[in-house]
Amino acid sequence: MMRRIHHVGIVVTRLADAYRFYRETLGLPLWKEAELPDQGVRAALLGAGDSEIELLEPLDPSSGVGRFLAKRGEGLHHLCFETPDVGEALTALRAKGVELIDATPRDGLAGRIAFLHPRACAGVLVELATPPDGADARQGEPASPLRLKRLVIGTRDPRETSRVFQSLFGLPEAKMNGGARTMLAVGRGALLLVPREEAGGTEGLVALSLVALDFAALTAAFDRAGIQRLRGTGEVTVEPRSSHGVHLHISRFD
Ligand code: CO
Repeated sequence: MMRRIHHVGIVVTRLADAYRFYRETLGLPLWKEAELPDQGVRAALLGAGDSEIELLEPLDPSSGVGRFLAKRGEGLHHLCFETPDVGEALTALRAKGVELIDATPRDGLAGRIAFLHPRACAGVLVELATPPDGADARQGEPASPLRLKRLVIGTRDPRETSRVFQSLFGLPEAKMNGGARTMLAVGRGALLLVPREEAGGTEGLVALSLVALDFAALTAAFDRAGIQRLRGTGEVTVEPRSSHGVHLHISRFD
C-alpha cells in the first residue's frame, strides 16, 4: 500500500538559511518551492535519492508549523509515505478507526495529500501523498549526491509500534538480530524503531540517515562550510546546530 518514503518534513526558521546547508553544502537539488497558505508555510522539496526532503518555513507564528517552531525549535516534523490513491487509503484507515487530521485529500506540495493524527502513529505525524501522474520522471533534473537510507523513530515499545505501522501501512518487518529494536522496510528506505531510552527519552522522529555517493567530496564540503560533526569509520554525525535541528547521520555505504 505504501510505495516509498516520499519525503521527510523538516521545520526551519528561514528557507534561505536552510538552503545554505541542504542545497549548498549537501548539494541536494531543489525540485519545487511554493507557498501553501492552508498549511501556513512556504515549503521546498529537495531530492534525496528515491525520497525527498521537505523544508517548511512558517508564514506566521500562529500556524501549526509556527507553533511547532516556537515550542520545539527547528527539526524533524513529519514523515510522508507515497500511496497510489490517497482517497482510498483514507477510506481504509477510517474503516479501521484511525484518527485522521484530514478527512479528505487536499492539494499539497507533493500532490494530493492528507495527514493522520500523531496519536494514531505512536506520536509520529504521518502524511500520505499521491503525486501527480508523471511526477516520478525526473529526466533532465540534476542527480542527488545523497540518498535517504532510513528514519529513526523513538518509541516506548518498538514491538507494539511496529505492529501499529504494519497494520496501518502494510510495511514488512526487516530482519534484525533480536534486541529491542525493530526495522520496517518502505521501498528502498526503512524505519528503525528504537526504545526511547536510546533516543534521549524522545518519542517520535529522532534522526535521519543518508548515504553519500561521494563521501570524500562531502567531507571536503563540510570542511569548507565549517560544519560541526562527529567522525566515525565510514559515517559522520552532523551536530544539530549545523543541520537546522536534525540529528543527521551520513554514511559512506549501505
Ligand atoms: Co510533507
